[in-house]
Amino acid sequence: MMRRVEAQAGLSGTIRVPGDKSASHRAIMLSALAPGESTIEGLSPGLDVAATSQIMVQLGASRRDDAGIVHVTGPANDLHASDDALQCGNSGTTIRLVSGIVSSLDGTHRLEGDASLSRRPMDRVAVPLRLMGASVTGEGPRVTPPLVVHGTSNLRGIEYYVPTASAQVKSALLLAGLRAGGPTIVHEGIRTRTSTEDMLRLAGVSVLSTDVGAGRRITLSPGRPQPQAWRVPTDPSQAAFFCVLGLIHARADIEILDVEDSPERIGFVHVLSRMGADITMTPGTSGSTLRVRSSTLQATELHATEIPSVDEAPILTVAAAAANGVSIFRDMGELRLKESDRFEASVALARLLGCRVWSEGDDYFVEGLGSAQRFAPFSINAGLDHRIVMSSAVAGTAGRGCDIDGADTVGSSYPGFFDDVTSLR
Ligand code: S3P
Repeated sequence: MMRRVEAQAGLSGTIRVPGDKSASHRAIMLSALAPGESTIEGLSPGLDVAATSQIMVQLGASRRDDAGIVHVTGPANDLHASDDALQCGNSGTTIRLVSGIVSSLDGTHRLEGDASLSRRPMDRVAVPLRLMGASVTGEGPRVTPPLVVHGTSNLRGIEYYVPTASAQVKSALLLAGLRAGGPTIVHEGIRTRTSTEDMLRLAGVSVLSTDVGAGRRITLSPGRPQPQAWRVPTDPSQAAFFCVLGLIHARADIEILDVEDSPERIGFVHVLSRMGADITMTPGTSGSTLRVRSSTLQATELHATEIPSVDEAPILTVAAAAANGVSIFRDMGELRLKESDRFEASVALARLLGCRVWSEGDDYFVEGLGSAQRFAPFSINAGLDHRIVMSSAVAGTAGRGCDIDGADTVGSSYPGFFDDVTSLR
């Protein structure tokens, strides 16, 4: 679907972005793993989380929605293999975390994805899950989907150093470890989001975490999560789109409510502050309120470790395109392995806006235009990548409009995104 985005003259108002996608996936999974009924408030409305939910039902949980609260009931005994393929759609979190769960369930499990997911590497979970005793196979040397997992209720606990910063890999191992014969110890070199550890702990599982340098060591003892009343905070990586929109737009004042504000998720706020953004963060009882106003931004140098998982790199590229000077995005190789090649997509977007852009290895450089009002009107194909849709829409709204081919893929994480942008007029 081709979608036209018009430039807007002024933007003001208050936004509450949807429930955090990471916490939503885990809330569904941990509820399905627990014996009895859990409730979830604030679940992400996106298709990615719906895919996880459908899979948990196939594996033996049940789901009922009532007045905005999702009720998930896990079976008294164990989840079980499904005769049908598990459809993961566009969602890397679904396929990687579900691989961990089904590795400990006896039987054969087939995991499939859309064209985007089918080019993403699953060796990063296959290698450690095999060490635990599961068989995980996919296509080619990078183990791309479809995946076939032969699970076993006799998994071994392992000690594993995750070679690239990845919350998904860490989480897959911890979820597999729930039913292993001994403790699972995961080392990460860079601290990534802690949704899995935090939520497992809330559900009564023993998870010990110790900071080690810039990373941490996590020890999980096998155990079964217990039913919970989950409250999902709102998604900081979605708030980032409205932050940049408010900052680069010439006449904007936007408030974003109740944003999850853990250190691993909120790095983009520090990057924007350093660029001279008029951005305030006020802690509240359910996350922080962010307020942004039109700002003149200066270029910055940022390293991937400041925004672990690099979800905010495309929208920070749009901020860099509106800034004065050359911004440097360092060590951004992981961007190539997301829903699209976001390294190329980010570079291409900045170029379409009219910037001089170049790359060297895993670094890229964006010479900003000094103002979003200098952005060129543009047309882009979003390549099954929700964050490229939203980054493009922000650039078009603050700049001089754009056309986005494939804009409907925004539904994987944020079906109401365009309505929320419109509400700020
Ligand atoms: C996620 C982890 C991140 C992120 C993704 C969600 C998660 O990927 O990009 O959107 O929920 O664990 P990494 O595995 O690269 O950290």
